[in-house]
Amino acid sequence: MNWTRSSWREYNILQQPIYPDLQELKNIEDKLKSLPPLVFAGEARNLKRDLAKVCAGDAFLLQGGDCAESFSNFNANNIRDMFKVLLQMAIVLTFAGRCPVVKVGRVAGQFAKPRSSDYEEVDGVKLPSYRGDIINGFEFNEVARVPDPKRMIEAYYQSASTMNLLRAFARGGLADLHEVNRWNLGFIKKAELGKRYDELAGQLSQALAFMEACGINSQNTQEINQTVVYTSHEALLLPYEEALTREDSLTGDWYDCSAHMLWIGERTRGLNDAHVHFLSGVHNPIGVKIGPSTSGEDVKKLSQKLNPNNEAGRLNVIVRMGADKIGDRLPLILKETKKEGLNILYSIDPMHGNTVKSSNNYKTREFHKILSEVKSFFEIHKAEGTYAGGVHLEMTGQDVTECVGGAFNITEKSLENRYETQCDPRLNADQALELAFLIADFVKKN
Ligand code: PEP
Ligand code: CO
Repeated sequence: MNWTRSSWREYNILQQPIYPDLQELKNIEDKLKSLPPLVFAGEARNLKRDLAKVCAGDAFLLQGGDCAESFSNFNANNIRDMFKVLLQMAIVLTFAGRCPVVKVGRVAGQFAKPRSSDYEEVDGVKLPSYRGDIINGFEFNEVARVPDPKRMIEAYYQSASTMNLLRAFARGGLADLHEVNRWNLGFIKKAELGKRYDELAGQLSQALAFMEACGINSQNTQEINQTVVYTSHEALLLPYEEALTREDSLTGDWYDCSAHMLWIGERTRGLNDAHVHFLSGVHNPIGVKIGPSTSGEDVKKLSQKLNPNNEAGRLNVIVRMGADKIGDRLPLILKETKKEGLNILYSIDPMHGNTVKSSNNYKTREFHKILSEVKSFFEIHKAEGTYAGGVHLEMTGQDVTECVGGAFNITEKSLENRYETQCDPRLNADQALELAFLIADFVKKN
């Protein structure tokens, strides 16, 4: 195969912006190529090793974050709160589900969005769709919607700064298991869910005290006060991904150093298209979203292209079929790929197949549908004798009202209170934690 980091340019490509000034685009690409990588190849290899454990059924993948990161909501508190929820969920899954958890954020680079329609119409005014802050502006006016390559530079620096904070949180004490009680977000404490979490935290404190008495402590065991949170995003905007793709000096292999893991969206997974071609040549762990129209044959061919050596931990197939369709489609896919002996880590994205319009015109998702698709995912795997390896969620550490239902029963009416997403509706911190408790029960049964 003739792969270079720029060979995708000879392939059919979908969902790309049309930049008005190609010389400016080129200058920006050159600038990005000169900037340091955001992650190292060795870290991507560590993630692959961790995901191979998931593939073998010895761990669980928890991947989550914003649908789209934004320039305007960027601040340390938002990142800290997301980090806490991710860790709280991981604690629930590890402790209640008795299973090690590999934590991957949709963060530090999740900026580019595929859109179902090229145009958006509001009150009779038609403008190009918003494609994420790395491409154009969210504001609904003509100037904002023109794609601007300089946004790639801002996205890069925001990602670098986010990455720096995540590394500090993971190693600088925030992730110390002894601090677990302090992770409680103010509003979770008040609720029923807070009680359940406090109970678990209490049990964890006892376990830590016992270990301490046995001589296992944070001085001699770094797992107690440190963690690893990997980064991921959809590799949609290929000029950006190409510029951050670097040759590893140790192995001579190419890695996309914009994140540890990259995925291909449901709309751009054409077998002979640019996105699949580009990611086939980098050595990071790779995800592919699959919607309800996907066949077993499609997954086999994607696996041949993206994981020709059938390496465990390389390929994550992210199922997003919708609660009503997963039962018809997934069993056959699992049968066929199992028969071929393909090493595929299957995870469930219960968000993107369950998006609806509320009666008051908000894009939303119903919590019970999300839960229902997760439940089906586990049941189908159990029936097929395969491993339900993980979840992929859109969520935030903030107390937003974007998805309806859940323990606090967010109603259609209350969506208007704190609907803050720039793209798809996210689970708020309570809903995410509630889901983690429910998933822990499935994981334990598995
Ligand atoms: C997303 O993950 O935000 C997304 C657009 O997903 P999908 O490609 O599955 O629609
Ligand atoms: Co989304």
